[in-house]
Amino acid sequence: MIIGLNKITIRRPDDWHLHVRNDYLLKLVLPYTSSIFGRAMIMPNLLPPITNIKSAINYRNKILSLLPKNHKFIPLMTCYLTESSNPNEIELGFNTGVFAAVKLYPQSSTTNSSYGIKNITSVNKVLERLQKIGMPLLIHCEITDINVDIFDREAYFIEKIMQPLRKRFPELKIVMEHISTKEAVEYVNSSDNKIAATITPHHLMLNRNDLLTNYINPHFYCFPIIKSKLHQQALREAVSKGNPNFFLGTDSAPHFRCTKENKCGHAGIFNAPTALLAYATVFEELNAIKYFESFCSENGARFYDLSLNKEKITLIRKRCEIKKTINLFPYDLVPFLAGKTLNWSIKD
Ligand code: DOR
Ligand code: ZN
Repeated sequence: MIIGLNKITIRRPDDWHLHVRNDYLLKLVLPYTSSIFGRAMIMPNLLPPITNIKSAINYRNKILSLLPKNHKFIPLMTCYLTESSNPNEIELGFNTGVFAAVKLYPQSSTTNSSYGIKNITSVNKVLERLQKIGMPLLIHCEITDINVDIFDREAYFIEKIMQPLRKRFPELKIVMEHISTKEAVEYVNSSDNKIAATITPHHLMLNRNDLLTNYINPHFYCFPIIKSKLHQQALREAVSKGNPNFFLGTDSAPHFRCTKENKCGHAGIFNAPTALLAYATVFEELNAIKYFESFCSENGARFYDLSLNKEKITLIRKRCEIKKTINLFPYDLVPFLAGKTLNWSIKD
């Protein structure tokens, strides 16, 4: 890494948590990621979800076929875990390089999670197999009991699901996705190297005042819901200390503006165009640029036992005005930090 006052050069980063959707939307959003990131862990929550080798290969081929010619980008596929997932299919997918990981959505936790897991013990056989073959499990860590306050869903999940799960499968490699609380930070900090977590730019930059003060901002609505400042600060502190078990995962999750600015607004933030600049802004604010490269480009690859990217990318200190909307006729998308100006730009 080369750090200058006005220039930072790092290894090309990877995005360890990304939604690129399908078809028309896939074609439009993919270049925002593939122009910057070397690889991305592609989330499987399509309709129908990616639950087997065949659908993962088709989806991967579609992504590859829509890549701009000059973009070198590798999509890493995940398998959506259901209560009827077959451990043999998952193992075969892993051994043949189709699946990089399995994704566990508690049922009703987020977008397209209705095929997800209601009862964690129903997938014991799969978890046993993952542990045996060293295949990572990516978890959306929120309990979905409607009696649990929405702001407490992650902390409850850690207590009620994660801790018992870890006792039963101590060697299982787990990534806690898009963590949003002090409790999750503490849990990762006090765990061994089998547990890691991704952190999004929005959970680092926002707290619930940004979401709810003056008016509701639907473009900051996502799951896990943005928490209080205390939790935001715990996440910021986590990345500023350089623990290698935290790494970049944008959770960029595009929804058209009309479905977000709606009485039943969808959860998800489209941050692919701004994510790297947003992370740079946060690391600079925290005086932690020395950990910027490891967070963006090294910790994740090491956790997944993958090689590091060889290419480099340079950020320069130049004002970057984030577009208010990205017009994709007949719809449009509102990117994270729309209308704001950041101090960093990507060098062409
Ligand atoms: O806000 C979110 N949106 N959180 C998720 O976990 C899923 C995502 C989506 O797919 O829209
Ligand atoms: Zn996600």
